[in-house]
Amino acid sequence: MKFKKLTGQIKIPVIGLGTWAIGGKNEADTTQDNKNISAIKTAIQLRITFIDTAEAYAKGHTEELIGKTIQDFDRKSLFITSKVSPEHLKYNDLIESAKMSLKRLKTDYLDLYLIHLPNPEIPIRETMQAMDYLIEQKLIRFIGVSNFSVEQIKEAQRYTKNRIVANQIEYNLLVRNSGRVTSNMESQIIPYCQKNNIFIIVWRPLAKGELARPGFKLLDELAETYNKSQAQIALNWLISKKGVVAVTKSSKINHLKENLGAMGWRLRQEDADRLDKECLV
Ligand SMILES: NC(=O)c1ccc[n+]([C@@H]2O[C@H](COP(=O)([O-])OP(=O)(O)OC[C@H]3O[C@@H](n4cnc5c(N)ncnc54)[C@H](OP(=O)(O)O)[C@@H]3O)[C@@H](O)[C@H]2O)c1
Repeated sequence: MKFKKLTGQIKIPVIGLGTWAIGGKNEADTTQDNKNISAIKTAIQLRITFIDTAEAYAKGHTEELIGKTIQDFDRKSLFITSKVSPEHLKYNDLIESAKMSLKRLKTDYLDLYLIHLPNPEIPIRETMQAMDYLIEQKLIRFIGVSNFSVEQIKEAQRYTKNRIVANQIEYNLLVRNSGRVTSNMESQIIPYCQKNNIFIIVWRPLAKGELARPGFKLLDELAETYNKSQAQIALNWLISKKGVVAVTKSSKINHLKENLGAMGWRLRQEDADRLDKECLV
């Protein structure tokens, strides 16, 4: 697995495993547990050591499945990220959430803990103080946010002794400046994070698989030119950018292998520029 490093001690694997809908969506679904554990295990065996999850996924069941799977691996070789839900951003609630995530994940620490979404009802000062406590207690290694605007990142940073190292946002070839939760990703958020050494962890990098299928003229053309798949072009375009890594979900071994094939080569600058400038749709 390749890593990206900005400043400081943190390095993040370039491609991670997304886990939304593994073990259920908004409710736990235990009917596919063996299949799901086997899919996560396969991903780790393929060296996808960065696992992205959240307390909200399947009401904690996704974390439980990950917890069962990672017992077979060296914890230090893994980079585990979870997220606290916006309703749990009060000081004591956040600490309780983190402890519950650790319990479900059967681990002593998280590599990165993200605020899943901003919550204007709860003062960010107390949220960040709770994050600092988790760092002091060595329950988490790094603090991050998700779906934050530039202003929200600046405000959160003001209240922590530590550095916010990542912002996880929706961004892909089809969703550039207007996402489900954030806006101005390309015009403001990404440039700000790049300038301030904050990793961008892209969620939904394949637009839920839409970008993995033929049908977009420029993507199809570049796939043919480079002898790569559409998914590999779409992911390579993302991870070629400074400080950008991606978490993509797949439960299929052929898809996991294909997505790993987005690393180890680069689009020529003129082709990356075309993808930057030309709208796919
Ligand atoms: N922070 C947030 O607010 C937030 C929000 C949403 C998601 N996320 C995180 O981001 C992760 C990724 O987002 P996502 O799961 O919504 O979307 P995604 O990774 O863009 O797409 C996942 C879909 O694409 C398919 N797929 C993956 N690789 C493929 C390939 N090579 N060829 C064909 N199909 C392929 C998968 O199906 P198969 O399983 O059949 O391969 C799955 O249906 C999530 O799992 C979650 O961890 C975070």
